[in-house]
Amino acid sequence: MDTVVSGIRSTGNLHLGNYFGAIKNFLKMQKENNCFFFIADYHALTTHPKPADLHGNIKQVLAEYLACGIDPEVATVFIQSDVPEVAELYLLLNMNAYVGELERTASFKEKVRLQPDNVNAGLLTYPVLMASDIIIHKANKVPVGKDQEQHLEMTRHFARRFNMMYEVNYFPEPDAYNFGQQLVKIPGLDGTGKMGKSEGNGVFLADTPQEIRKKVMRAVTDTGPTSPNQEQTEPVKNLFTIMNVVSDPETVKFFTEKYASCEIRYGDMKKQLAEDIVKFTEPIRLRITDLLSDNEYLSRVVAAGAEKARASASKTVKEVREIIGYRGF
Ligand code: TRP
Repeated sequence: MDTVVSGIRSTGNLHLGNYFGAIKNFLKMQKENNCFFFIADYHALTTHPKPADLHGNIKQVLAEYLACGIDPEVATVFIQSDVPEVAELYLLLNMNAYVGELERTASFKEKVRLQPDNVNAGLLTYPVLMASDIIIHKANKVPVGKDQEQHLEMTRHFARRFNMMYEVNYFPEPDAYNFGQQLVKIPGLDGTGKMGKSEGNGVFLADTPQEIRKKVMRAVTDTGPTSPNQEQTEPVKNLFTIMNVVSDPETVKFFTEKYASCEIRYGDMKKQLAEDIVKFTEPIRLRITDLLSDNEYLSRVVAAGAEKARASASKTVKEVREIIGYRGF
């Protein structure tokens, strides 16, 4: 059985792209592996959230992931800042991470460009904290999207460097758990590109049916096919891609044939698509609402998660201290 670690950014408001691009795979993974899923709320501090917002953001993401079916009875679900051991390992690994390599990290360079007024040391050492998150549980698999591949590569470097430096074979070098072909990229409703939170082109799991209908009916299409079997334009292809994940195969087949024979009415297709999205998201939305009002349950989940995560993390930190040479008197 593999140990899997994945950190979740506490930016809140999951959309269909998050669900079909990653969460669906988390649900599958949690059954087959020893999974640690945590909310990366130390990492969140790099962008200086207001104290009044921090807790609410964390709670929202937690509720949304649980509502999707992440099962705290199966996986270890916890909040990063509830496990201070990770901060100690981070400190220790920092001694062995070089400013040059950290400055060359793509995500760091991007942040320098995007937020030149807030280039803090936490941003620079973000990959070291992420490595600590992972190797503190001796994970061998990390589910990552393209944007995290370099961070995982660095995690492997830090693990190997530690092993070499202390002549031990202590930390495994974790592999990327690439969802490969299974990974569905969900496009947005604006005709081009991926569904994203900041793009304003998404359907959120917490959207009400009314909001969903409004968004879908406004989705970009084209003027319609004029000859049989005409190739679909990107906006139309995108609607079919979404339909493929939420609707019955017969529904997809019906509209695909209507398109091929130039009889498609996009209004009808959108109405159907909106209803199928609602059918999929509505139970999740209701669970999110329930969970958000059940503080007692949420606090039990994170307390149990923290206990399990700390057991694993403190064992590692204890052993690492011994390897480094700290001894009692
Ligand atoms: N950096 C990841 C992201 O932005 C979040 C993250 C933090 C993470 N620690 C991790 C992911 C450990 C996997 C493993 O999405």
